[in-house]
Amino acid sequence: MGATRIVFLGPPGAGKGTQAKRVVVDLGLEHLSTGDILREEVARSTGLGKKAKGFMDRGELVPDDLIIDMIRGRIERAKKGFVLDGFPRTVAQAEALDRISTLDAVVNIDLARAEVVRRLTARRVCRACGTIYNLGFNLAAGTTRCEACGGELYQRDDDQPSVIENRYDVYERSTAPLIAFYRARGLLKPVDGKLGSDRVFAEVMRILAA
Ligand code: AP5
Repeated sequence: MGATRIVFLGPPGAGKGTQAKRVVVDLGLEHLSTGDILREEVARSTGLGKKAKGFMDRGELVPDDLIIDMIRGRIERAKKGFVLDGFPRTVAQAEALDRISTLDAVVNIDLARAEVVRRLTARRVCRACGTIYNLGFNLAAGTTRCEACGGELYQRDDDQPSVIENRYDVYERSTAPLIAFYRARGLLKPVDGKLGSDRVFAEVMRILAA
């Protein structure tokens, strides 16, 4: 049996969501994306959504206690296993995760800042089914509808160049220390995010089956 309790780590735009969506289908796991859950809370204007929105629009992290309370039950209910995408993002979150579940692998998809900015300014997402596209490689300029479901394509509020730069700074300051944290536990599996999406997927699946 391969890995079933998996974390995807990496800077914004490294391809965590793109890969997580494919991996969970192949392995029958739950996709737990803290960014997606938060965006849904914002769209529904819930109490949590109202608290989180300002942080997200600035590219700052939402406070640890809100995030841990939001994700704990979802992890506990994912009995067949999970891919955590966007969590943990701080050492405090990683320590909280240690108390909730053991892990089989932490896949670290790395990508340099310039490529992150290039990819994220060209990202479009389907409002209906969440499919992720990129004007750079799999979406023709001027396309406004999702190829999978016909839903409206939109650009995330935090995919503006100045916010992307701040998200990368926040990643380097608060999240990159988790690389050493998980390496020390023998869980870290590095993947080069520069490769094409299919090659990254093949590499991730090879690692998770090992
Ligand atoms: P979140 O939604 O998690 O954003 P992120 O980590 O910044 O990651 P992204 O979703 O931007 O990128 P990704 O790595 O998933 O890349 P993708 O696959 O889309 O978080 C948003 C905000 O929520 C945070 O800023 C924070 O405020 C808050 N938040 C969330 N979690 C939190 C937490 N735990 N604690 C506190 N706050 C939290 O790919 C990017 C683009 O590249 C796409 O267009 C895609 O098509 C393209 N692409 C993907 N792979 C490739 C490839 N191999 N080659 C070429 N293009 C590719």
